[in-house]
Amino acid sequence: MVSRLSLACVVFSLFLISSCLPCQAQLSSNFYDSTCPNALTTIRTAIRRAVSSERRMAASLIRLHFHDCFVQGCDASIMLDNSPSIDSEKFSFSNNNSIRGFEVIDEAKARVESICPGVVSCADIAAVAARDASVAVGGPSWTVRLGRRDSTTASRSLADSDIPRATTGLVNLIDMFNGKGLSERDMVALSGSHTIGQARCVTFRGRIYDNSSDIDAGFASTRRRNCPSASGDGNNNLAPLDLVTPNSFDNNYFRNLIQRRGLLQSDQVLFSGQSTDSIVTEYSRNPSLFSSDFAAAMLRTQGDIEPLTGSQVEIRRVCSVVN
Ligand code: HEM
Ligand SMILES: *[C@@H]1O[C@H](CO)[C@@H](O)[C@H](O)[C@H]1NC(C)=O
Ligand SMILES: *[C@@H]1O[C@H](CO)[C@@H](O)[C@H](O)[C@H]1NC(C)=O
Repeated sequence: MVSRLSLACVVFSLFLISSCLPCQAQLSSNFYDSTCPNALTTIRTAIRRAVSSERRMAASLIRLHFHDCFVQGCDASIMLDNSPSIDSEKFSFSNNNSIRGFEVIDEAKARVESICPGVVSCADIAAVAARDASVAVGGPSWTVRLGRRDSTTASRSLADSDIPRATTGLVNLIDMFNGKGLSERDMVALSGSHTIGQARCVTFRGRIYDNSSDIDAGFASTRRRNCPSASGDGNNNLAPLDLVTPNSFDNNYFRNLIQRRGLLQSDQVLFSGQSTDSIVTEYSRNPSLFSSDFAAAMLRTQGDIEPLTGSQVEIRRVCSVVN
């Protein structure tokens, strides 16, 4: 009886294993519990240290992970440097002179490698770093699912086509997120991460100097002071994405939009008499709803945009180069 039951179990398990071979291995929150039990605390220490020495780093790490996940899935492809076989995503339109935080991931990776070499992927470190960064500036927390592997490829052209830009219109923004399995509501919630961090003049010059912009006049004139109209002048001058509380993760971003004080055109389109206005209004009134929707949308970004599988993956030893 017992042996027949265990035989049935073996057969059933074999069936489960074989039926899952072609599909993505499931991510799980306890993936490193036995192989590297201190991985998560080690990463958290590194992220806390980095954010306490520079608050903006929390924003940079969240964006780094988003730009990784939108190109080939969350596979650390964004971290690979140029090489004969790699056309680095670091030089794509949205990342060049803009994306930052690699040295923080490298530092966390080095510390994790020193306790469990070859076990924890760069892709997982970036996913955990984004969560820890959110928490470090007062944002929501969520349980990160783990077990991603690192790509051996990168794609600058996919980064150019799949990462939204400040000039992207609302319909296209919705389409681009839908293309990654994310809803219109997810897109609005995730844009709420512009409650922290900075943008370069080159990304918002068009909006603040276009007299037909739907923009608060006082806000536009303040932003013009540090962002000259001539294209090329002061392109890298920075302004906070949330003028009220640029260093804390709250719902002020949505209140700004209602006052026509969105910095990027892609921010203000979320509240411009189109389909997402009501979501912006909800989040502006209900910070805890924004928090929980943001966390849920981050989980979908991290989990459902699946990384590459098969022989094209590995656990990189150093995040910027393939093994
Ligand atoms: C909806 C479409 C989006 C567009 C068009 C967009 C565009 C931009 C642009 C143009 C910047 C300024 C970059 C620079 O000047 O160098 C920026 C910054 C930022 N973005 Fe987005 N973004 C979008 C969605 C998201 C999402 C989904 C996240 C994260 C979940 C995110 C997180 C951030 C953060 C945190 C910053 C500040 C980074 C820093 O200070 O280093 N963005 N975004
Ligand atoms: C990236 O930015 C640098 C410095 O502004 C520029 O020289 C280079 O052409 C840019 N690279 C690409 C691929 O656009
Ligand atoms: C916008 O308005 C200002 C002040 O009225 C004017 O000097 C400027 O030329 C206008 N800009 C454009 C692009 O029309």
